[in-house]
Amino acid sequence: MGERLNRNERGADGVSLEDQVRILRAQLNEAQKLTALGELTSTTTHEFNNVLMTIINYAKIGMRHKDEPTRDKALEKILNAANRAAKITNSVLGMARNRSDKQEPTDLHQLIDDSMVLLEREMTKYRISVEKHIDAVPQVVVNGNQIQQVMLNLLINARQAMPEGGRLIIRATHDVAAGMVDLTVRDSGCGIPQEKLRRIFDRFYSTKDGPDASGKGGTGLGLAMCRDIIEAHHGRIRVESTVGKGTAFTLKLPAVKVNAKPAATAVPVLGIRAQSTASENPV
Ligand SMILES: Nc1ncnc2c1ncn2[C@@H]1O[C@H](COP(=O)(O)OP(=O)(O)OP(=O)(O)O)[C@@H](O)[C@H]1O
Ligand SMILES: [Mg+2]
Repeated sequence: MGERLNRNERGADGVSLEDQVRILRAQLNEAQKLTALGELTSTTTHEFNNVLMTIINYAKIGMRHKDEPTRDKALEKILNAANRAAKITNSVLGMARNRSDKQEPTDLHQLIDDSMVLLEREMTKYRISVEKHIDAVPQVVVNGNQIQQVMLNLLINARQAMPEGGRLIIRATHDVAAGMVDLTVRDSGCGIPQEKLRRIFDRFYSTKDGPDASGKGGTGLGLAMCRDIIEAHHGRIRVESTVGKGTAFTLKLPAVKVNAKPAATAVPVLGIRAQSTASENPV
């Protein structure tokens, strides 16, 4: 690459390089959304199959045993499984449907639950315990779909960092002074060595060989996309990691201003940009 690119240089079709980059970025974002959905389809199909097996088995038990307690128990199990199936479809359909970039007051509890419902079984399979500590945080002004994409990326990365199992902690706290909500995804996985930490947000940087047994990971676009999304929210994404102990990613998201009239398109005016910080702090 001896030559420097001139930002105003135009291609054969007269479109400036800057515009071409912008168009390609937008296309890449669209492709990433589809990839994320594709990955989820395989997870969801497995989940669904599982739920159906539960329903079929308890229906059989209910038909075989005529006594009321057994039938009640079977019906209860069937209802629970069906509710779970409904949650799974709602979450995936919500992601597929909502393609607008609108940022609006959003409940983090719901957003986290929607993300977790898609990965619950995977976490159990890899013997990962999941803890949620969500303070009474205010709503955040975000595009729920995009933040859900960020969460899925962080949760899948965390899962992949703990092949032998471990602990996953999701925490949300209100940073009143900054007017932000801090959302942390912490794992007890392999950690990231200092020299790699500064590269993890680079496009196409990956230490994975390719998709794993669950069909996820390996493109090196996950964290780059997370950073782009958080930047578009005037938020921050930070990482702390200790090799052998684990990693914590923290998203700083703009809280809904108290007393502010809730407006669907309210965008916070904050001069904060996304940044990654490398730190030796134990996690
Ligand atoms: N929680 C984590 N623990 C340890 N390493 C991590 C963690 N999260 C990210 N990494 C490292 O950062 C790299 C980049 O992550 P990123 O999500 O951008 O790409 P990827 O997971 O490799 O592929 P994909 O684009 O499919 O997400 C990973 O390959 C991994 O080396
Ligand atoms: Mg990833």
